[in-house]
Amino acid sequence: MTADTRRTGAAADPVGDAVGPATAAPRLDDLEALRTAAHDCTGCELWEPATQTVFGTGPSTAWLMFVGEQPGDQEDLAGEPFVGPAGRLLDRALAQAGIARDETYVTNAVKHFRFERRGSRRIHKTPGVGHVRACRPWLDAELRVVRPTVVATLGATAAKALLGPTFRITESRGTVLDWEGFALVPTVHPSAILRLDPAERDAAFDALVADLKVVAAQRSEEPS
Ligand code: URA
Repeated sequence: MTADTRRTGAAADPVGDAVGPATAAPRLDDLEALRTAAHDCTGCELWEPATQTVFGTGPSTAWLMFVGEQPGDQEDLAGEPFVGPAGRLLDRALAQAGIARDETYVTNAVKHFRFERRGSRRIHKTPGVGHVRACRPWLDAELRVVRPTVVATLGATAAKALLGPTFRITESRGTVLDWEGFALVPTVHPSAILRLDPAERDAAFDALVADLKVVAAQRSEEPS
């Protein structure tokens, strides 16, 4: 990592809510170079307990970018986004919506796993706005390089990261918003479905698939 990828100025904020300078992402135009640079990011304190930076994966030519919240336990260990239970649910929903995951770019608003230790377990903790802010330059760099036609946000953290803190998923999920030149479709986070009562899960899964079909329909809107 070069010095310019490191945070300068404010000290690391353990709560993640302080306003401070964001990490600087280098202006690189290929994903491998960005991934390598992000590997050593210390832009907030989350890098230290985490196993590794979990950068986005997928082709730089992807027409669709998914933005989730942050890597979970399995993603932290594997170094890839959405490979655990939430990722498997997302894969099933994608298949039903007619989207091949390998034609999409999958990333997160925050690229280190935030967790709390309880005995031998690592329990997910929602990232703070400071973590999202510190990581934002990496997401902006991914958007700049991939330039997808469609961005789909998964859950509140990703939606708020891009659309602002007052955004409410329940009001706009499954609709196509115009965000900075991208068609943006917000939907729920797959983990939220996994946390539901089993009796409610099927309907919530079907609603996710319906949102992803809205995403799929945007593919044909791609400029040729
Ligand atoms: N949840 C996320 O938001 N991202 C992942 O990569 C895994 C789980």
